Amino acid sequence: MNSIASAFRSDPSGTAPKQHGAVPMLELNDGNKIPMLAYGLGTANSKQAADDVIKATITAIKAGFFHLDGAEMYGNEKELGRAIAQSGVDRSALYVVTKLDNKPEHIGQVDKILTGSLERLGLDYVDLYLVHHPAMAGGDPARLQGLWAEVEAIKASGQARSIGVSNFLAEDIEMLFSGGKVKVVPAINQIEFHPYYQRQQVIQLCRDKGIAISAYAPLSPVIRAPDGPLHASGLLPGLAKKYGVNEADVLLRWCIDQGIVAITTSSNETRINSYTCNIPNFKLTPKEVEDISKTGSETFRRFFWSQKFAEGDTR
Ligand SMILES: NC(=O)c1ccc[n+]([C@@H]2O[C@H](COP(=O)([O-])OP(=O)(O)OC[C@H]3O[C@@H](n4cnc5c(N)ncnc54)[C@H](OP(=O)(O)O)[C@@H]3O)[C@@H](O)[C@H]2O)c1
Repeated sequence: MNSIASAFRSDPSGTAPKQHGAVPMLELNDGNKIPMLAYGLGTANSKQAADDVIKATITAIKAGFFHLDGAEMYGNEKELGRAIAQSGVDRSALYVVTKLDNKPEHIGQVDKILTGSLERLGLDYVDLYLVHHPAMAGGDPARLQGLWAEVEAIKASGQARSIGVSNFLAEDIEMLFSGGKVKVVPAINQIEFHPYYQRQQVIQLCRDKGIAISAYAPLSPVIRAPDGPLHASGLLPGLAKKYGVNEADVLLRWCIDQGIVAITTSSNETRINSYTCNIPNFKLTPKEVEDISKTGSETFRRFFWSQKFAEGDTR
């Protein structure tokens, strides 16, 4: 049972009540477990009015989104904290993430910056603290490794149960490890990932090092590139029909069924509830996962941080 909003209706026939399956959990390299479906406070939510963010986030928590993906950069840690406090769900049942903003001047100040985040969240720890983007180190290995040592100290202090990175390419991961000083291997690399941007190089390197992947922008083929091959071929609508779910559910499951944490968001109550209702209750076959990957790889589309890449760079 993953949703505190689901009702157990007694049935006089004696049939057992219908019960949602749980959102799957993934064990990280430090032994902590992370829910494989997350509700994001960024993108659409970072542009909403405070009350709307709080309301949508409470709806998400009550629907069973227990993994909440926040960030200093989103400017709504206070709203996330209020939603947590008002949700009625115990803090210990939630998995709260925030991220160190991509500002070079934050290097050397990580402890102070996280203290500010925790104050805004109204929490004394986060479950996962991420370096939002490697660009803050300016491509300087010593600065990147020094930054990571500060983040390792955050884990040691208990202010973050797990630590990780975001938007790291294979080169950034290699740079981090090149000094031979990494004591705590990042638990996660959070990256843009969907069938039109499959990131095999960085994912393989992360897997070799025991770093889990979480995927943002997973619904891109539905909302950002509805003209792509997954629709032209009929594959995505066909799978949604087969399982009696929405196309978005199929895309989230495509991540989860590859061992990748899926991070989505919504301000639409019907959609929020349908994700936590549908995702635990179906699974793609390995062939279906492969078919989506194969058809998706017919095109390349990147939607975030594009200014950091040269024309034609598909890393
Ligand atoms: N680390 C990073 O650099 C980074 C970058 C980007 C995002 N993120 C994280 O990932 C989270 C999710 O990112 P995302 O927004 O890219 O996720 P996404 O899952 O690709 O897209 C979610 C958006 O799709 C819309 N949507 C869903 N179904 C729809 C439909 N049928 N028709 C129209 N719109 C539909 C939702 O709007 P409705 O409200 O209408 O449902 C929502 O705004 C963010 O909130 C953030 O936490 C991290």
